[in-house]
Amino acid sequence: MSNDNTQRTVTVSIQRFDPDVDKKPHMQDYQVEMTKGMTILDALHEIKTHQDGSVTYRRSCRHGICGSCAMLINGRNTLACKTPLIDEVGHKNRVTLGPLPYLPIIKDMVVDRTTFWEQYLRVKPWLIPPDDIPEKEFRMSKEEVNALHDAESCIMCGACYSSCTVIGLNKHYVGPHALLKAFMRVMDPRDEAPGQRLADLDGADGVYRCHTVFNCIDACPKGLNPTQAIETLRKLAQKRKKFETTRRKRQQHLHEPIPAK
Ligand code: FES
Repeated sequence: MSNDNTQRTVTVSIQRFDPDVDKKPHMQDYQVEMTKGMTILDALHEIKTHQDGSVTYRRSCRHGICGSCAMLINGRNTLACKTPLIDEVGHKNRVTLGPLPYLPIIKDMVVDRTTFWEQYLRVKPWLIPPDDIPEKEFRMSKEEVNALHDAESCIMCGACYSSCTVIGLNKHYVGPHALLKAFMRVMDPRDEAPGQRLADLDGADGVYRCHTVFNCIDACPKGLNPTQAIETLRKLAQKRKKFETTRRKRQQHLHEPIPAK
């Protein structure tokens, strides 16, 4: 719970890097008048608008939906727009901001997310429906919908990806964000290709590359659990054929009403 009743001047220390000018990143301090309810993103706006227009960061929705404002705040990956400034400044009245780790810096807090999106596309995150699509709608049980809920809430901010120590060593690893989306499609009874998906993730850079360090869980601003999804994918990969058979049987009844329990 935030203690928003203290108005004071705080120091926002920002990692700066302009590839046209700098050889390496350096820290630059700004003084900000903290106001009630101010978020880290508000503080950045204050700095950019009134003090230094060259400070560069991504943002869009300001409501924790688009995922673009993810950055390193006091050593932890999270969303600037959902983080109250007062919760971070502590008794030193200082907060430190930097770009997401393990990704090339384009400028200041803006990183190059190319590998992040490449790995996302690698798992084919879209639904692959059966060839014989029923003329009626697909019907899913409450349990089936619940199984997808967590993965659907992912906003692709990159906080988990850039907190993953495996990614720090190996950019070929699929990554927790993409594996969470793969989990969503594998568990979706409407999807035609769970067996192929599991086979694709069975390689050296797939589900077995995860070291189960749990950094992704700690970093996720939505409280999701990619590690558990990866564990489930590992188990399903080991009984892929049986899982495919079960899916085929389920798809024969996709258009039928779900019986009440
Ligand atoms: S600006 Fe969209 S999540 Fe923060």
